[in-house]
Amino acid sequence: MILPRTILFGKDAMDQLYATMLPQMKGKGTDALLFLPPFVQAQRIDEKITDVLRAIGMRTEIVAYDEGEPEVSYLDALVQQHQHQSYDLIIAIGGGSIIDLAKAYSLCVENSVSCTELLSKNSIRERKNHFICIPTTAGTGSEATSISIMKENGIKRAISASCFIPDTVVLDPIFLAQASFDVKFFPLVDAASHALESLLSNRSNEISEWYAVDALSRIIENEQYYLSTLQDKGDVANKIQIAAFHAGVAFEMTGVHVIHSFAYALCEQIPLRHGHAISIAFGPILEYLLSARGKEIPAFARYEYLIKRVAAFLDKHEAEIYDIPENIRNIQLLAERVLGNERLMKNSPMRFELQEMIHIAKMMYERIASKQK
Ligand SMILES: [Fe+2]
Repeated sequence: MILPRTILFGKDAMDQLYATMLPQMKGKGTDALLFLPPFVQAQRIDEKITDVLRAIGMRTEIVAYDEGEPEVSYLDALVQQHQHQSYDLIIAIGGGSIIDLAKAYSLCVENSVSCTELLSKNSIRERKNHFICIPTTAGTGSEATSISIMKENGIKRAISASCFIPDTVVLDPIFLAQASFDVKFFPLVDAASHALESLLSNRSNEISEWYAVDALSRIIENEQYYLSTLQDKGDVANKIQIAAFHAGVAFEMTGVHVIHSFAYALCEQIPLRHGHAISIAFGPILEYLLSARGKEIPAFARYEYLIKRVAAFLDKHEAEIYDIPENIRNIQLLAERVLGNERLMKNSPMRFELQEMIHIAKMMYERIASKQK
């Protein structure tokens, strides 16, 4: 297990970054690159970082990226644009997409390769720059994993490298203070799926189980307050940020499987954000496991009380999850794509038959169709 060397968390985490962490970069380089979305720029966080870095003799360049799963072609163009440049410090502020983009970018520029080459050469896995991740959503856990997900011709491709684990992670609830329901809910379900799939994975162990159960318990205990419009001084949001981070640590050790495989296959047929696709897949899979084969998995039987609470949480939000304009176009193809994702399904605690996948896909189809009536 590899963890980030430094984790700053709590309501003053960004202040700690400005006052302590960034000044420690003095003498460790001259150039920094900052990945961030426009809404973070609007909060002038880039200016604060640039000011601190300027004071220690570092110049800063900015890549403003509008959230959305990064395309290989976008990264290739960016690497081409920066081909004679090198950076000593890379900071990614944003959701999982920006963090994944920064991870893949740092590997490409350090090794002078395009992302296309990176996807075909498994041996390139080195990074010398200092990498800071500041997630603005609580969900993907990308700040804790060695995976970067990129899109190539509509298909998700995973790049794996242990050097993707950041040197520093900052979990400050300030980014969630004004977040909308959707910005909180769908990443939260993604985090719950990381924890649950890790718990059930055939690679689960005592340590990953601790992180997974802690993440699920924190999510179940805090989801109602977190998603409500009640005033949160940051305490509840920070608990959820820690839950998402712990779910990421658990998933890093064990991988994910059937829920994520369904979500990826769904995205090939319906244009959905990752967290939304996970939300659509999650409930029917849990319902199937609770009614049929879940008891074959020892961890499922051990934590059935917790899994039932996750299922109830998803049921409560059925209206938000299944109210989408399009439905699954080809159920058979969807089921085949789920089973065909060997990278993920190798972590599954049991072997599923095609008919079972078709049955689950039909449950998803019917839930979407019922909201379209
Ligand atoms: Fe995920």
